Amino acid sequence: MDIIIRDNYAEMSRYAAGIIAGYVKNKPNCVLGLATGSTPIGTYKELIRMHKEGLDFSRVVTFNLDEYLGLGIDLDKPYDLDQSYARFMYEELFSHINIKKENIHVPDGRTKDPEKYCQWYEEEIKKAGGIDLQLLGIGGDGHWAFNEPGSSLASRTRIQALTKQTLDDNYESFYKKAGVDRDKMPHFAITMGVGTILEARNIIMIANGVKKADVVAKSIEGPVTSQITASAIQLHGGGITVVLDKDAASKLKNLDHYVHIERLKCQYGLS
Ligand code: GLP
Repeated sequence: MDIIIRDNYAEMSRYAAGIIAGYVKNKPNCVLGLATGSTPIGTYKELIRMHKEGLDFSRVVTFNLDEYLGLGIDLDKPYDLDQSYARFMYEELFSHINIKKENIHVPDGRTKDPEKYCQWYEEEIKKAGGIDLQLLGIGGDGHWAFNEPGSSLASRTRIQALTKQTLDDNYESFYKKAGVDRDKMPHFAITMGVGTILEARNIIMIANGVKKADVVAKSIEGPVTSQITASAIQLHGGGITVVLDKDAASKLKNLDHYVHIERLKCQYGLS
């Protein structure tokens, strides 16, 4: 696991975007797993900037991690703007780059048959050849996507009830600003499972701010537990990069060691 610590959010975002851009350049038809939340906004801004300088997304395929049950938009008619993650992705990334609409997958929370839909989503990921690089944030309760505490670490795409903490966090970050009543927030979501996420060939997890310091330390250095589903990162066998700002890294016990390793790798041209 590579643990990269940067001074601030902007530098964290630049580093994360650099990794993603590297994949897109090396494999123009790569399959990217994408995340929502306030954390990846800076990463997406950087990718948009790189796109303006020539980074080509025309063959890239994407799969988003999750969506609120009941919400969704049609990407070819994006005027019915709600608080869906599909709208978030449209506004923060897709509408600014040359990705093809048919290559975008965001779970559709408006599905009438969620169970069947979740199976279909899993099959689509398989048909695309699996995810090459999955971008992840981390929730305030240590979740990946919407895999709330208690989710099996082998779980697949499914419907998940949201915890009070997640509802509170997401209300503060998004719903409040949009003037949506707290009671009107969806209490369920479609989410890729932890097992689904672990099948991605490579993972990049990003986090910033002191609010995330505790769960970041628990996920990287604590025991692997379904109570902190991001701790499943320790079970992944492929390339893992965790990119943090100083505040999010502040509770890591082995902080000095991670900084030392990164310096050594730079010195020997290994990064
Ligand atoms: C939501 C998303 C997660 C995301 C988390 C953190 O719960 N489902 O994928 O990692 O929020 O969001 P933020 O980046 O706003 O802290």
